[in-house]
Order: sequence, then C-alpha cells, then structure tokens
Amino acid sequence: MQYGYFDDEKREYVITNPRTPVKWINYIGTLAFGGFVDHTGGAVICRQDPSLNRIVKYIPQLPASDFRGETLYLRVKQAGGYKVFSPFFVPTLDPYDRYECHVGLGYMRIVSEFYGLRAEVTIYVPPGEAREIRDICVANLSDKPLEVDAIPVVEYTHPDSLRQFTNADWAPQTMQSRLVEEAGGLKTLIQYPFMFRDSQINFFTSNRPASSFDSDRVQFLGDHEYGAWARPLRLQQPELNNSTAHRGDNIAALLHHLGALAPGETRRLITQLGQDASFAAARPGMARFRSEAVVDQAFSDLARFWDEYLAAIQVETPDAMMNSMLNIHNPRQCQTTLNWSRYLSLYQLGIGGSRGIGFRDSSQDVLSVLAGLPQEGLSLIRKLLQVQKRDGSAMHQFNPLTMAGSEGDSLEREDRPHYYSDDHLWIVLAVTEYLKETGDLAFLDEVIPYYERDKVGRPLETGTVRDHLQQALAFTHRDVGAHGLPRLGFADWNDTVNLPAGAESLFTANLYGVALREMIELAQHLGQAAAVQAYTADYEAMKARVNEHAWDGEWYVRYFDADGEPLGSRKNTHGQIHINSQSWAVLSGFAPPERARRALDSMNQRLNTSRGIKISTPGFNGFDPARGGVTTYPPGAKENGGIFLHTNPWAIIAEAMLGAGNRAYQYYHQINPAAKNDKIDEFQCEPYVYPQNILGDEHPQFGLARNSWLTGTASWAYRAATQYILGIRPVYTGLQIDPCIPDQWEGFRVRRKFRKAAYHIHVTNPLHVCRGVKSVRVDGNKVAGAIVPVFGDGGTHTVEVVMGI
Ligand code: GLC
Repeated sequence: MQYGYFDDEKREYVITNPRTPVKWINYIGTLAFGGFVDHTGGAVICRQDPSLNRIVKYIPQLPASDFRGETLYLRVKQAGGYKVFSPFFVPTLDPYDRYECHVGLGYMRIVSEFYGLRAEVTIYVPPGEAREIRDICVANLSDKPLEVDAIPVVEYTHPDSLRQFTNADWAPQTMQSRLVEEAGGLKTLIQYPFMFRDSQINFFTSNRPASSFDSDRVQFLGDHEYGAWARPLRLQQPELNNSTAHRGDNIAALLHHLGALAPGETRRLITQLGQDASFAAARPGMARFRSEAVVDQAFSDLARFWDEYLAAIQVETPDAMMNSMLNIHNPRQCQTTLNWSRYLSLYQLGIGGSRGIGFRDSSQDVLSVLAGLPQEGLSLIRKLLQVQKRDGSAMHQFNPLTMAGSEGDSLEREDRPHYYSDDHLWIVLAVTEYLKETGDLAFLDEVIPYYERDKVGRPLETGTVRDHLQQALAFTHRDVGAHGLPRLGFADWNDTVNLPAGAESLFTANLYGVALREMIELAQHLGQAAAVQAYTADYEAMKARVNEHAWDGEWYVRYFDADGEPLGSRKNTHGQIHINSQSWAVLSGFAPPERARRALDSMNQRLNTSRGIKISTPGFNGFDPARGGVTTYPPGAKENGGIFLHTNPWAIIAEAMLGAGNRAYQYYHQINPAAKNDKIDEFQCEPYVYPQNILGDEHPQFGLARNSWLTGTASWAYRAATQYILGIRPVYTGLQIDPCIPDQWEGFRVRRKFRKAAYHIHVTNPLHVCRGVKSVRVDGNKVAGAIVPVFGDGGTHTVEVVMGI
C-alpha cells in the first residue's frame, strides 16, 4: 500500500492517507527556534535547546489518534449546535473527503476537505524568526453559505522538559497564562512559568479578532476533563470560557468567528506562536506578522534559502529515485542533522540530560553541508572544538544553550572508562573537509579554548585549530592497549559494545588511520615535510599492527577484550563478523588489496540482505552485562545484528574505493528510502528520509524501519553518492573527478558550486566501465590528471569527463 508520492517539481513529498503506520514528521525552523510538525498537525517547538527551553508539549508515546502539542478545530454552525472537526484529521478523526500533507522544504502544508469546507494550513518558521506561523485558509466548497469558526490550540510544557514529566507538583504550580487585549479585538495569550514572568514569555496570537479564549485546559475540555481533545465540550458553546490559567495545564485557545462564507469564498487566519523577553519586546514583531504581505514575503524568503542551499549540488543520473534524494531530500535531511544532531525527533526525545549535541555525531553531520552551508558548518565546528579537552579527547555531548558538556551514557557504568575512543578523531575529518571545500586555511590558526574552565568560567587553556587537531591525534597515539591498538574507552562509534577496561578497538584504529591520512594530505599541501614524515610513520605503525593482529583469515576482527580475546572472529559464537572492521580497513587504506577485497566479499556473503547490510551476525541472544548495551536488544535489532544504516554508506565508499561500481550502487539502491515508497507496510517510516535502523533478517519484523531523520546515515549516504559513486570530491587544489558507477550507466551530470565558481560537469561512459577517467576537459581545454582547478571567479565552467580505461 502507498501512503503518498514524491512531487520532485515542487520538492515535496505528498502524503495522501493520514493513517500512516507511524507518524511522519518534518522539521521547521532551526535549533535557534523550531522543532518538528507531524503529518496530522501536531508539533513540538523549542528555542535553542529542546531539553532546557521547550515550548510545546508533545508526547510521542500517545496513540497516533491523540492530540499532540498543537491543533486546529473548525466548526460550522448547524441547526441546534455545531459540527466540530479538525482539518488535520487528528484528534477528531472525522471522515474526510480529501487529505493531503505536503512535506515541503522547511514547511508542512495540510490540505483537507470535510463537510464542504476546504482548509489549507501552511506551518513554518520564517527564516531568522523566533515564531511559528500557521497560515490558515478556509474555503467554502459547498453551494450554500457556511458560518465558520476557527479555534487554534496550543498546549504548553514547562521549559525544563524533564521536570514537566517528573514533577507533577512543582511544574503545574508554576505555570501561568494571561491575556493581553489590543484594539480591534486582537488577543494575545502570554504564557510562562512564574520564575520566568519577567524575563521570558511564550506568546500565541493571531491576525483576526478573537471573541473568546481559554488558557486553562480543564475549562476548554470541560467536565473536569471528562471532555476530551476529540470532543472538547466547550466547543459546543457559542464562546470559550475566557479562562485564565493561574496554574496547571496551560493551553492557548482562541476562538475566531470567520463569519458566513459564501459559496467559493475563502478566509485567511494567521497565527503566531513565539517566545520573547516580554510582551512589549514581542509586540512589534507580532504586529508585523499579522500582515499577510509580510507572511507571504517570509514564505518566499524560506523558499529562497532552500533554493540557494540546494543549488550547491544538483545531479542528473539515470536513477530518478537517486536524483530525488540527492537533489532534495538527502541534503534536506543533512541540514536537519546539522541543526538537531541526535537531540530532538519522534524517537530521540530531547528530554533531560540523556542527549544533547553529540560530538561524534555533529562532526560527521558537518561533512555533508559544507558545499551549501559553509558558515553554518564552520560555526558548529567551532562549538565542537570548544568541548574538546586539553588531553585531546572530547566531551561526548553538550547542551547548545549552556555549552555544558557531559560524558553521556558512559556515566551509567562506574566501572568503565568515561570517554569514547573515537569522538575526538571525527573532528579531524570535519575540519579538513571544511578546508578542502572552502580553501580557508587561515582557520587553522584560529585560537579556540579547550573545554576545561576555572571556577569563574575562564578557559584553562586555548590552542589553535591546528593544535586541537594535533592533540586529538596525540591522544589516540598514546592511548593504546596490549596489541598497540587504540583502547576502546567506554565505546567507539558503536555506543553499545561496552567492554571492561583494557579492550581495544579496530574501528578506532582505522578511524585513526583515516585521520592520519587527512593530516598527511594537509601537511603535504602546506609543504610541511617534517609533519608529513611524522604522521606517515604513525600511520605505517598502526597499519602494521592492524594487519599483524586483526586479520582473522577471511575478515578483520572488531575488538580485542581485556584478555586479548578477539570479538568479531570466526572463533566467536555470536557477533562473528562486523561490518565496520571490513569497510573501515578499506577506508583507512590499512587493508592490502587482497585482504581488502576478501574482507568486503565476506561482508557481502555474511552480512548483506535485500534491505541493507547488517551491522554484525549472528546476533547475541540474551543479556550479558559484560558486553553491555548490545545484548539488551533481541537478535536482529539495532546494534545487535540489525541493519544499522549509518554503516551502509561506509560499505558503499569502500566498494567504490576498490572500483566495484555495480556493488557500490546496489548497496546504495537497496537502502534508498525513496525505493521503499511502495513497501511502507513493511518499512513504516517516512520514505523521504533515511532511518537510523531497519530490523535485520534474524528478527520476525525484518525490514521495519525506526528512528527516522536524526542519523549519520544522512551525511554519509550523501557523501557516498556525491563523492564516491558520482566521485566529485573537493581536494585542496580543486575538484577531484573519480566516479565509480554501475557499468550500465551511459553517464551523468552534476552542477556544483565550489569556491565561488559554478562547475557544470558532464560525465560520459562510452566503454561502460565502472571506474576510470580517460580525459577531462575544462572549458574546452584538456587538463592533465583528473583534478579540475579552483577558479574562484564567480563564473561558470564546463567540465567534460570521458570515462574509460
Ligand atoms: C546512535 C548514536 C551514534 C552512534 C550510533 C551507533 O546513532 O547517535 O553516536 O555512533 O548510535 O551506536
């Protein structure tokens, strides 16, 4: 069964059936102000930090049919009462004549028809604003006049998202609302917890007179809340209660009489939900956004933002679903992970201290936005470097509002190390990618403090970006175990394998190799011979250790435990082979050619499925505290033998590095969410974004996806496709052209912006090879090699590439 379709021209996915297997969402705004909206109009909105400053209460665990955060009721006057319904389907669940949810770039637009009324509601955050707009148009489709009222509703949370749920004494005693009336019947409901009354208020208002309001949920639902969101009792009365919440569950509901709509007539109502220091501070902006022209302008500014961002890379390949992902949805998801890391989604709830901005996560998210959003990428890199410690390791995560770091889940186990062995190494990849994309080498000399502070909050030590990178490498250089391989710490990239102290990680060994290669390339570009030599020596030493100790005969092992026993070896009963030690041995260049091919073939034979490559096999079957979180999952789920999707693009890159274009593309295609559009009853999640995980073939629900949106899959799938399959990668001296495609392809086109010039690249493949560049012509002139030079001239340059042997 299908639940919707891709409209690439409008750059939307259109949901046509509201009964999707799980809620499908879309992000609006940014981390500065925004959140997500689900396809039935529910929303969670936060400012700057989902845990510490949340505005709207959204409870993901409620049944799909329930009210979550925000909704809109419409009602039509009938003989003896009102027909009340929500144009969002939820929470009233009336039968609809038409329902569409347009999942757009930074907006959600729900178009629906019920009882002769058509509603079109566009929900977004205008660029740079701390307000959510709901632009509501109601049209009378029937052949008689209809008397229509519109009642938008928001339910607030205490800004401290955790205390909202853990303290039902303190939180409700502090929550208050009050009404501010202005000329012409305009009403604004102000809301705050008492301690913020004089410093930070939420506001909800509209651009039409409201005749009555409610801010106390009990009064709105009625009958001591035996009235329900599906049938608020007060909506059967001509007016709301005008209730002021002095405590308790605060809402903002405003009743607007839109009047009698003649057949064919439309009325427009614009609501705003925002936050400011006070009503007075909010008032000018509020007044501005009551104007339809200002709102229209804001919506076109939003479209312009996306036009410019997406224009950085546009492709035309023979695969329409690949085009749809690469031109629209995948970079869109990358912008989302850049903002929200793994903090706020339908699955990662952003409540309390369990998450924040992840150091390793964001360092990887940055990688795929640098062509389109270099400044945003740079400012995130700066923040990340500020939570790196003096010894080179990094805080695992931090709160964006306070910049306070934490050691994350490692704190749950006193007996285990409280650092992750991989975190700090990822920042080397982020910084060098930024340098290659922008050429901004001066960044290396920028001075940034390390994390540690004195009692009054002054940094204990600062260093240049170059120092930070050196410290990162030095930490891993020192922190090695019995085989000379990096110690695991609490975990490496795989958060859930938490072995007793003394274990070693092959993942971190390979990531260290990749980071060293980056440093070698940088030092070469800067002409620093001594640094090249030193890093090369470290690289060769680690490569030798990996090959001496970790080759298991047909693949590389994944860990050594504190007793020197391998995990991810044919000797093991469970977790015999892991994907990452194969792909990363190729990414690092540690695997010699024969082992590289062998390792990837073993991965293919043992781990590949029709729904993606599994992280490991066979799954552990039973909880084992010595191994940690991985054994809390049943076999086939998440890190325990599931298809943990983040790992798949690494396999794609590894295959492309070995020239296996058909297999690289097969792996790409088999996880392309757009290809799941006609398998939703199995897949369940949004077909327009990558999920974090898909249940593996050891699980009875093989193929079921969960944890959509916030996953490193977004950044790496984009990178795998654009830089390794299409093979267009920034290097210090230009754009490297190195495609690795299916041999059937005749060619493809890429338009790419790079260092202030546009490149129109046309690749042809007359001999039907997978890899190999025979000639490159730039503006008609042949260039030696396959690197297109930097022009930086604001012009457009044509690049003709012929593949061949
Ligand atoms: C989650 C975490 C990420 C980790 C991955 C694998 O996605 O956010 O940091 O690498 O799980 O355990």
